[in-house]
Amino acid sequence: MNILITGGAGYIGSHTAIALANAGHKITIFDNLCNSKLTVIDQLTKILGFPVNFINGDVRNTPLVNKSLKENEIEGVIHFAGLKSVAESVANPLLYYSNNVQGSISLIEAMQQNQVKTFVFSSSATVYGEPTYLPYDEKHPTNPINPYGHSKLQVETILGDWAKSDPEVKASILRYFNPVGAHESGLIGENPNQIPNNLMPYIAKVICGSLPNLNIYGKDYGTRDGTGERDYIHVMDLAEGHLAAIDYLKNNHGSHIHNLGTGHGTTVLELIEAFQEINKVEIPYKFSGRRGGDLASYYSDANKALKELGWQARRNLEQSCKDTYHHLLISNNRAK
Ligand code: NAD
Ligand code: UFG
Repeated sequence: MNILITGGAGYIGSHTAIALANAGHKITIFDNLCNSKLTVIDQLTKILGFPVNFINGDVRNTPLVNKSLKENEIEGVIHFAGLKSVAESVANPLLYYSNNVQGSISLIEAMQQNQVKTFVFSSSATVYGEPTYLPYDEKHPTNPINPYGHSKLQVETILGDWAKSDPEVKASILRYFNPVGAHESGLIGENPNQIPNNLMPYIAKVICGSLPNLNIYGKDYGTRDGTGERDYIHVMDLAEGHLAAIDYLKNNHGSHIHNLGTGHGTTVLELIEAFQEINKVEIPYKFSGRRGGDLASYYSDANKALKELGWQARRNLEQSCKDTYHHLLISNNRAK
């Protein structure tokens, strides 16, 4: 299938690009590089062994998306392009509604003009909000607690309505839990343009000495050790989930929601411990207060994805820690 990957120079998109290309799909990456670098495209070319088709553009530029769909005879779109910082979304909500919601509308408009009706969307576990029960399954009520989460839920609603209005539309909504790790080559990984918000890339910056220590946000949650608990999923497992979703859409019209997680929770301290143990490194950390907007604990019920998509996470946390560190060593060597 000819697939447009919006946000394909970013963390999850670049790993998914590899999984798709290796499965025989023809990929075109569309990204404005607001949170990624052009070197990712060179690295993908190295990993795949052929030049990767790249368009530098903003998904809100409907005429450019239109032209890109036409010229590359696109049959399906995987939509990663979006902003993802919860704190930034609270400080600047309009930026998030413009980029994430208006960006998705612009993309769907261009798709409609080109009769492209297969769509996979990067949603998030954030749409569930404060857990009324755990693990979250797809029937758990949705109640986001910040503009980022609202922007994701609004796009889910739009996709549901689009699918209801046109029986040929096939939309997969994937609710990701916490992606970590890197491709086994170490050539790509998570490299945000700013100081990372997320735990694993922050740890990587601390280990390579760019940041002095990790701040653990909160030690008095009602979890096993008082620190926040999340469902960390290897990014290549997540990437393969997109492959499974594309396959599923071949025979399934309408909109479909699936959690992509491991089904297991890990606390911050457990993650630090696993990382230190497998990589034989020290992670200096100190405790600081809770981070605004954080939930104590959540993890997925991933059974629907197993039953319907035939997909489940195969790599464990140790593998994620190992691959993160491997990527760090390779990128530090490259920078020398
Ligand atoms: P990322 O920032 O690494 O990648 C997003 C990419 O989209 C970047 O390369 C960025 O330059 C590009 N982009 C952003 N706005 C754009 C626009 N308007 N036009 C074109 N390109 C644009 O983030 P990621 O971690 O790879 O996340 C990918 C998607 O998955 C996002 O939509 C994010 O909200 C969602 N998601 C991420 C997580 C996570 O923890 N990483 C969890 C749940 C959902
Ligand atoms: N944490 C720290 N110190 C840090 C960073 C994080 O202690 O420097 C803690 C957090 O408090 C939390 C855990 O590590 O308990 C994970 O935090 P992340 O920032 O890595 O991830 P979040 O669970 O807050 O959110 C991430 C993405 C969202 C996405 C969500 C899906 O940032 O975009 O996962 O589950 F929607």
